Amino acid sequence: MTKNTVTITDNRNGNKVDLEILDPTIGSSTIDIRQLHNKLGLFTYDPGFQATASCKSDITYIDGDKGILLYRGYPIEQLAEQSNYLETSYLLMYGHLPSHVEYYDFVGMIKQHTMVHEGVKHFFNGFHHDAHPMAIMVGVVGALSAFYHDSLDINNARHREISAHRLLAKMPTIAAYSHRRAHGLPLPYPRNDLDFIENFMYMMFSVPSEEFKVDPAAVRAMRLIFILHADHEQNASTSTVRLASSSGANPFACISAGIASLWGPAHGGANEAVIRMLEEIKNPDEIPKYIERAKDKNDDYRLMGFGHRIYKNYDPRAKIIREACNDLLNVLDSSNQPLFETARQLEKIALEDEYFLERNLYPNVDFYSGIILKALDMPLNMFTVIFAMARTAGWISQWLEMMEDKEQRIGRPRQIYTGAKVRDYVDLSKR
Ligand code: ACO
Repeated sequence: MTKNTVTITDNRNGNKVDLEILDPTIGSSTIDIRQLHNKLGLFTYDPGFQATASCKSDITYIDGDKGILLYRGYPIEQLAEQSNYLETSYLLMYGHLPSHVEYYDFVGMIKQHTMVHEGVKHFFNGFHHDAHPMAIMVGVVGALSAFYHDSLDINNARHREISAHRLLAKMPTIAAYSHRRAHGLPLPYPRNDLDFIENFMYMMFSVPSEEFKVDPAAVRAMRLIFILHADHEQNASTSTVRLASSSGANPFACISAGIASLWGPAHGGANEAVIRMLEEIKNPDEIPKYIERAKDKNDDYRLMGFGHRIYKNYDPRAKIIREACNDLLNVLDSSNQPLFETARQLEKIALEDEYFLERNLYPNVDFYSGIILKALDMPLNMFTVIFAMARTAGWISQWLEMMEDKEQRIGRPRQIYTGAKVRDYVDLSKR
């Protein structure tokens, strides 16, 4: 079969090269540029890798124009309605929906790993009392590599699997501890009689002096947040995990690098920014002032939680989570609080306003997840931590896939050097 190619001609000298076009199962085709430098002596320039595929992947597919998100081929809408977080994690990791036996084995396996080594707990006392929980996450998740030497051989498939299970299972425990430490609360052991989400809520909010109760609507909303954030193909934090592991680093260190990348306000911080914006607006009467600011070309102000770099028509995750958000506000009877009233009115105005309609600036997943987490009394600085916990399923799946990919090399981008040409050193006395 003849290969599809594109021909690149260097117009300076007429030299040509035929480059193969690689076709995905769905989505845009890609030019394989690996021969470009050998044949023409040229590299490519693509800051932020906006136009560059860094890997082949079977895991997640996004069509931003059509608002499609698939995990292993399954539409996010179906998974959000019918699956749960651990089943979705299994799907991402192993590539298929588990059979009955596989599912219960997996859930049992994850539960076996929910506790952290007692030595890990000492770390929490070492942090400053007002440390950001994401700082604690970066440190403690990286430190796991100092405790679990029995599963650190990345060339051993079984070791890789155990490390992946450990990361998925321990993340809620570490996340909850990072919050409790700052509030002087005792560190509870995980409860394996609860499901994954309930157990996290228990570790976050329980106090030893009272019986723990959690509203099923809260668990449902959290379950959705976890499924919707489980993976999003080659975003900054996932690419960070892949780049860090391309050198052969251990998975705990690599996931810690992913957490660090997610911490940035341009990535994981958007839902926190939504609440800060609503708190700043304070009163629904003030909304028009902020809308005008967002439209003003001379003002940098933007409405947080509106628009998306990839989803240009709508964010499929926002559509799913919007309903859960409304249900939760009704159940918790918090709809009369000014912040939630401001959110509802802001959403309504933005969905009707010409400026937002013309630019497809609809509320994104962060708008609703921010409101949900606030309604659940989740501390603001835990919002990104919850994103990190949910995304762990994606990070470890992408890492496992990468470790089996024979085409992967150590990540080594090129540059366009713009510095000084060769010049001679001048002795200090002559400068
Ligand atoms: N409020 C007001 N105007 C906006 C907003 C907003 N939130 N977002 C975009 N615009 C306007 C821009 O000013 C621009 O207007 P113009 O065409 O008149 O110049 C137009 O819409 C297109 O904006 P771009 O910046 O080109 O869109 P881009 O795709 O680069 O940005 C982004 C997407 C970064 C998400 C942007 O919409 C934004 O800053 N939103 C608010 C922050 C936010 O919610 N981020 C989380 C998104 S989810 C995620 O990425 C994990």
